[in-house]
Amino acid sequence: MFNSKEKKYYVNGEWKSSEKYAELVSPYTKETIALIPQATREEVEEVIDVAYETRQQMAELTAYKRAAILEHIAQLFIENRQQAAEIISLESAKPIKFALAEIDRTIETYKFAAEEAKRLTGEMIPMDAAKNGANRFGYTIEEPLGVIGAITPFNFPQNLVAHKVGPAIAAGNTIVLKPASQTPLSALFLAELIDQTELPKGAYNVVTGSGGTVGDALVESDKVKMITFTGSPAVGISIRNKAGLKKVALELGSNAGVIIDKGVDLSKIVSKCVTGAFSNQGQVCISLQRTYVMDELFDEFIQQFEAGTKKLVIGSPLEESTDISAMIHPKEQERALSWIQEAVQNGAKIITGGTIDNGVLMPTILTDVPSDAKVSCQEVFAPIVVVSRISSIEEGIEAINDSNYGLQAGIFTNNIQTAFKASKLFEVGGVMINDIPTYRVDQMPYGGVKESGTGKEGLKYAIHEMTETKLIVWNQSEE
Ligand code: SIN
Repeated sequence: MFNSKEKKYYVNGEWKSSEKYAELVSPYTKETIALIPQATREEVEEVIDVAYETRQQMAELTAYKRAAILEHIAQLFIENRQQAAEIISLESAKPIKFALAEIDRTIETYKFAAEEAKRLTGEMIPMDAAKNGANRFGYTIEEPLGVIGAITPFNFPQNLVAHKVGPAIAAGNTIVLKPASQTPLSALFLAELIDQTELPKGAYNVVTGSGGTVGDALVESDKVKMITFTGSPAVGISIRNKAGLKKVALELGSNAGVIIDKGVDLSKIVSKCVTGAFSNQGQVCISLQRTYVMDELFDEFIQQFEAGTKKLVIGSPLEESTDISAMIHPKEQERALSWIQEAVQNGAKIITGGTIDNGVLMPTILTDVPSDAKVSCQEVFAPIVVVSRISSIEEGIEAINDSNYGLQAGIFTNNIQTAFKASKLFEVGGVMINDIPTYRVDQMPYGGVKESGTGKEGLKYAIHEMTETKLIVWNQSEE
């Protein structure tokens, strides 16, 4: 199925055509690479019905079987690593070396999901700790919710799908997945792999089309018990408003920042900052967007950061040497460029970048940016980083917290008290000491505060979100 240009969506283990199709254009070559079915509301409802009908079968699968299926998916990614990565590069313009790294993470994500499936336990409740609890034996079990509606973004089209599909299967749920409109091919490729496993047909379904049709049908269906969404705050808030009593997990954006304290050895951290700011063209929710450098190191940091950035290789995502390619859509590049221009009009200086060359927004470093410029206070989601001078750690912490978002933040420091202070005061979901805020491995809890969302990903944590805790109490008294 994968080689034909006209794609089908996947439901109940079968490939289905739709009446309407949309062209999928590669962001770098601008060539049409596929025709993607645009499901109607009725078609989505039929898919939801299938997932709903399959929920009992899925709930009855043993943990052993669920783990074996997840291990099999990981193994199939190992065997198809190159093809899976090329699909990501083609549909999203992610440079192939980062796409391969994403597949390596995807393999780990499914492996962690397999391990966690075997560790899904409840707990004993000390019933007799209460005055009226004598002769009672109480414990909890974690039951699957049923149907999970997953809505995934374009920036990690395979690993952020894995972060929803892996825990859903580990917990014994069925899934209806709506991939991002620009990156459906990875989710359809996953369907091809899953088709080779013993996952019950109807447990993993992918339906393609617009957010307004597919997304709304999922969010509004009474048969879908949870929506797990990664994407923009605006869409996340609208999902929350429409979801009624469904569980909702939202991984939204951020304008992540780092502090660089005095005394830090810049030669050890600058290349990390370059990677954090520009990998995947800055289209990462925890991309390094704001860098606060102590006065003493500011000039030296700018010099080294600029030199490191200028070494990045710009070009086709399929070239092994490429570090930076096109953003997801020309309109997004134009939007990012207009934000740079707005900052410059308000006093910002461009250290490097600030232009679109051969269809690629050049990695851009800005200084002297007012804190209310869009490149600083909104999520830029582009290869743009703002570097600001600070004269105290307190000033840096205040600047990091002066944000509507709070996903992750970092601090480089040799001072243990400063590290403790930052970890306590940063208003974020995750603090990285001596690292960039972009650091993530897939088993760690991941999720933000403020407009960065609600709920946590990371396999153990996502599985918990995707189950319902049921209490069972036995009365052992004779009377
Ligand atoms: C994201 O953009 O939220 C995901 C970042 C990651 O998984 O590295």
